[in-house]
Amino acid sequence: MSLALPILDDLPQRPKFAQGPRSLSAVKLLRLSLTDRCNLRCVYCMPDDGVTFYDHADLLSADDIVAVAAAAREAGVTHFKITGGEPTLRKDLVELVRRLAALGPEDLSMTTNGLRLGQRGGQLAHELREAGLDRITVSLDSLDPQTFGKISGDRGFTLEQVWAGINAATQAGFEKLKLNVVVIGGVNDHETPDFAALTLEHPWTVRFIEYMPLGESTLTQSLLGANTFTVDNQQIIQRIEAQHGPLVSVHRDREPGVGPAQVYRLDRPGVVPGRLGFISAMSQPFCETCNRLRLTARGELRACLFDGGEVDLLPTLRSNDDPQPDLIQLMARCVAEKPETHSPRGNRAMSQLGG
Ligand code: 5AD
Ligand code: SF4
Repeated sequence: MSLALPILDDLPQRPKFAQGPRSLSAVKLLRLSLTDRCNLRCVYCMPDDGVTFYDHADLLSADDIVAVAAAAREAGVTHFKITGGEPTLRKDLVELVRRLAALGPEDLSMTTNGLRLGQRGGQLAHELREAGLDRITVSLDSLDPQTFGKISGDRGFTLEQVWAGINAATQAGFEKLKLNVVVIGGVNDHETPDFAALTLEHPWTVRFIEYMPLGESTLTQSLLGANTFTVDNQQIIQRIEAQHGPLVSVHRDREPGVGPAQVYRLDRPGVVPGRLGFISAMSQPFCETCNRLRLTARGELRACLFDGGEVDLLPTLRSNDDPQPDLIQLMARCVAEKPETHSPRGNRAMSQLGG
């Protein structure tokens, strides 16, 4: 006997955000991963040994990256974020910044571990500024030298070198830095009030990022379980408020690089120069408002940090005289595959996806 069931496949499937993140016109930010390599091995990002990197021959050239960025501009993308791995390991970084800036984005920024910015008297930071980089975000997960070493995989780099990078960036004109703090339960969560205190002295936005179980990092492979290190940002807010008093919510619609962070400041008489941001991808997914795409260092476009929506641009980039119309079509196809909400675990590490 067969039952007559309605043919569900024929019903229009309208995701909640059919007019939003799933249409290319909603995409405002393209994250460009310049390399999957890094001089650190942060425990939330990489395994401490046996990291496999993409083949050098597979990495996008500067021309490829600029072609994708130009197509994105044509499609309405206004913001570019340069990421990695560690983007400062790329030899043609300054040239790339110059060429990306020439595409006239509203905002061109870079996320880095900061180590190279302070070398050679801060030369790189100055060159990046001169080439047209607007803003820098530095990843910094601990204010304690030992914990910094532990989180970054004890690779012989020091917290002091990151501070040198931060100073060099400031001197080069990147005063309004963002600091990214990935909060790891039992490792650095007790430091969050100290990080918050930095905003009383500096015009920085300190952003607390809930740890996301992505790829085969040391933390995802931990016997304790991939999710045990995620700390709900509400708990971090409580911890900070216990020490510094109630936070004040900040509206920041007009600031460059508006992203998924909820922004606050400490409450003090007079001017508080810095801000606190909370990125709560695990406890409060913000997929419905996602306005970004990601380009990996070997030319895959990704709609989501976790899983789903991956389109390989490389064949198009390499096969065509003017790839732009096809690239835009592929971008539209990629966005259409954005999942309604992200999967509990991601299949690739941030270093491979460009944050
Ligand atoms: N969870 C949360 N944040 C991460 N980052 C890298 N991997 C993870 C993860 N698994 C952060 C980096 C960097 C930014 C791009 O993403 O610290 O600041
Ligand atoms: Fe390198 Fe950034 Fe990954 Fe740390 S999080 S290992 S600095 S790419």
